[in-house]
Amino acid sequence: MVSRPHGFLERCRRRYGDAFTVNVAPYGRMVFLADPALIRQVFTGDTRLFHVGGVRGRVLSPMLGRHSLLLLDEDEHMRERKLMLPAFHGDALRRYPDLIREIAEAEVSGWPTGEPVALRPRMQAITLEVILRLVIGVRDPEALGRLRDLLARLVDQSTMVLFLVTALDRDLSWFPPWRRFLEIRAQADELIYREIARRRADPSGDDILSMLVQSSAEGGDALTDEELRDELVTLLLAGHETTATALAWAFERLARHPDVMARLRKSLDDGESDYLDAVIKETLRVRPVVMEVGRDITEPVQIGRWHLPAGTRVMSSIGLVQRAEDRWGDDAKAFRPERLIDAQPEPYTWIPFGGGPRRCIGASFATTEMAAIIPVVLREFELAPDRPEPERSETRNVTQIPARGARVVLSRSSRPSLAESDGSAQRRTPSAAPS
Ligand code: HEM
Repeated sequence: MVSRPHGFLERCRRRYGDAFTVNVAPYGRMVFLADPALIRQVFTGDTRLFHVGGVRGRVLSPMLGRHSLLLLDEDEHMRERKLMLPAFHGDALRRYPDLIREIAEAEVSGWPTGEPVALRPRMQAITLEVILRLVIGVRDPEALGRLRDLLARLVDQSTMVLFLVTALDRDLSWFPPWRRFLEIRAQADELIYREIARRRADPSGDDILSMLVQSSAEGGDALTDEELRDELVTLLLAGHETTATALAWAFERLARHPDVMARLRKSLDDGESDYLDAVIKETLRVRPVVMEVGRDITEPVQIGRWHLPAGTRVMSSIGLVQRAEDRWGDDAKAFRPERLIDAQPEPYTWIPFGGGPRRCIGASFATTEMAAIIPVVLREFELAPDRPEPERSETRNVTQIPARGARVVLSRSSRPSLAESDGSAQRRTPSAAPS
């Protein structure tokens, strides 16, 4: 369970069925669910019965604060979620792909070719920039540079340190890693509060912070500065590594499936997006970034034919349900995007973003971002795996990352490069224009 959780959980499912209990020392007793109907019951059940749980709060609240959407329960959660939803609506997101492409193009232009390169850190650089500019809306280059540095350091802080400190519940201000964490957090907060003050003075921007300031003020129930700070750090933490990891897995899978890559390139050349959508969905199915989400049961509850006492921790297993052969066929583990074209998976069998009132608020943001970035990389480079065997999955915090960082060898694509095919670039370099 500790070193190879997925193999272990799959064996448990084969042996015990779609609901089973695991009791392992560092985690305690947990009930795993791999049946779509049972998972649906937990995701959509009464929010007073299913709390996100003390462990999540203990580990993450020093970073995210008391008002984070990820940590709130019941009415407080519903209130903040309602205030935040309009900023993540499909219509609000439509203006973002151009800016995301621009950020990605600037980043890929410096990538090395002809040698193994890990794409995950490079994807993190892009997704961090996307959050800073589209979510927080930082424009001033100096503030952007400082925040980039501070937030990257904050995210890099080991959750083990946070866990230790909160679990011990003592004054650990003498403990150097904790002191370092508090210093970085204070510096980042100062910059974030400055951005909040700017947006309150002029909320006309189209970044998500401006929209949060506008929409909460319009409803007469404004988010306070402290709430806005906590939500911004939450969006950064929940939205940056997850999307970077999903993109890394997409390239890890594509590099090992040249037939899929060829079909994807052709469909993009033809100006179609259906196959790209299917590639994104299939990546999130076979390589879910978040393998399971937990809830703590607050009162005795009946789930399926099981009676669970208060205090039980229930884990809805995204990983098991999305790769189950009885739901997805004998080739359930194969990367085959075709299966998701024009197909509607059975309810609660495709749940990379969870479900119900806590479904990922950034799901459309993440898929919009992936759909903007993948074509930029494919237009500029050919990708080959550095080794033929698939990368193993490794646990990092609550996410599953490719163990070697999605390592590929890039070569320049024979198709027109971004600079050549971009009309504005041609205007800048008239000598390159066809006579
Ligand atoms: C591929 C990328 C992503 C994956 C796989 C992912 C996955 C998830 C999952 C499984 C949950 C549900 C947790 C639960 O049920 O307790 C969740 C919640 C959340 N996600 Fe994402 N996420 C992604 C990207 C993003 C992005 C881009 C943002 C914001 C910009 C974001 C913000 C959030 C927030 C705020 C929540 C809490 C929602 C609530 O409790 O109401 N996520 N995410």
